[in-house]
This record gives sequence, C-alpha cells and structure tokens, in this order.
Amino acid sequence: MKLWMAPQGLHIEPGEPRDAEALARLHALGFYRGWPKSDFFSYLTETATPAYIACDAKRRVIGFAMLRVADDEAELLTIAVDPKWRGKGIGKALLRATFQDLLMSPVQKMFLEVAADNPAAIHLYRQEGFAEIGRRQGYYARADGKPATALVMARNLG
Ligand SMILES: CC(C)(COP(=O)(O)OP(=O)(O)OC[C@H]1O[C@@H](n2cnc3c(N)ncnc32)[C@H](O)[C@@H]1OP(=O)(O)O)[C@@H](O)C(=O)NCCC(=O)NCCS
Repeated sequence: MKLWMAPQGLHIEPGEPRDAEALARLHALGFYRGWPKSDFFSYLTETATPAYIACDAKRRVIGFAMLRVADDEAELLTIAVDPKWRGKGIGKALLRATFQDLLMSPVQKMFLEVAADNPAAIHLYRQEGFAEIGRRQGYYARADGKPATALVMARNLG
C-alpha cells in the first residue's frame, strides 16, 4: 500500500470512495464554492483523478489533494487542509506526496490554478517549485460579486 509520512503524527495515503463525505466537508471549509459529495464520490472511483488524504491513525481525514492525470500532464484539481490544522506543513506534505507518486509515471508536468487573492496557497506553490505561466481574469466567483483573477502555475516533475 502507498503511504507517505506527514507532520503532526499524520500520514498520507490514497483516498477512497468512502472518503467522499470527509473531502466534501473539508473542501466546503476551504472554498467559497463547495463541491457536492456525489462529485467527490465520482472522482474517488476514477483512476484518472487520484486523491491523497492526510489522516491520523484512526483514518480521520485532516487534509487532501486531488489530481486529474491525462497522458503526460497532471492538474492539481484541489487541495485543502482543515482550518485548525493549517500552517503545520500538511499542505506541503500532500503536494510532495503527489510529486513522489507521479515520479515513476509518464507525467512530466503539473499545472494548477489559484486565486490571485490566496497568498497562503501561492506561497506554498512557489516554495514547491511552481511558476506562474498565465492569468485568467474574472475566473473565480466571490461573495462580494467581484470575481477574482486566477494565476495558472506549472512545475516540471522528475
Ligand atoms: C493552501 C492550504 C492547502 C495550505 O495548507 P497548509 O497545511 O496550511 O500549508 P503548509 O503548512 O504546508 O504551509 C506551506 C507554506 O505556506 C506558508 N503559508 C501557510 N499559510 C500561509 C498564510 N496564511 N500566508 C502566507 N504563507 C502561508 C507556510 O508558511 C509554509 O511556508 P514555510 O514552510 O516557509 O513556513 C490551506 O491554507 C488551505 O486549505 N486553504 C484553503 C483551501 C485553498 O485555498 N486551497 C488552495 C486553492 S488553489
């Protein structure tokens, strides 16, 4: 079984369909627009959209990352850590688990989109080797009605 170490006594393992509810809950805590549990269930049953969960010994899910893999490219679809557990290196460990898992695969490059008003995530991505390759104006809906710009970032793997 795939297993990666994470800070705070946690570990990272592949997500499974039974994690759909936990992922939907964590996602809703991290984003203005949540995804329904049924969407997560579909993703978790597909091999093209692998998920990585950071959890404790009782398999309580604290954070997760999910990819979409197609040919030699991967996209970071989403990553979220429980607000009470942020700033402890769990997001970084999740990202590194995805890189390691893809190391022996044909995937050469990872892409992601991040809101320009999300400094925590941008800091993490830059630190982990992602560089901005483009921008999409008005990409993310916001509660105040003023949509936020998306930065498109990429990183070579391997
Ligand atoms: C983005 C997110 C996943 C990061 O997870 P995390 O576990 O808190 O991140 P880490 O503790 O691994 O932090 C990694 C780096 O980012 C930095 N960082 C974390 N929070 C930060 C903040 N609020 N502002 C600036 N930098 C921050 C840390 O300092 C750390 O750098 P360091 O190693 O130099 O100290 C988490 O903040 C989250 O779930 N946010 C809501 C959902 C979201 O925005 N996801 C990304 C959308 S693209």
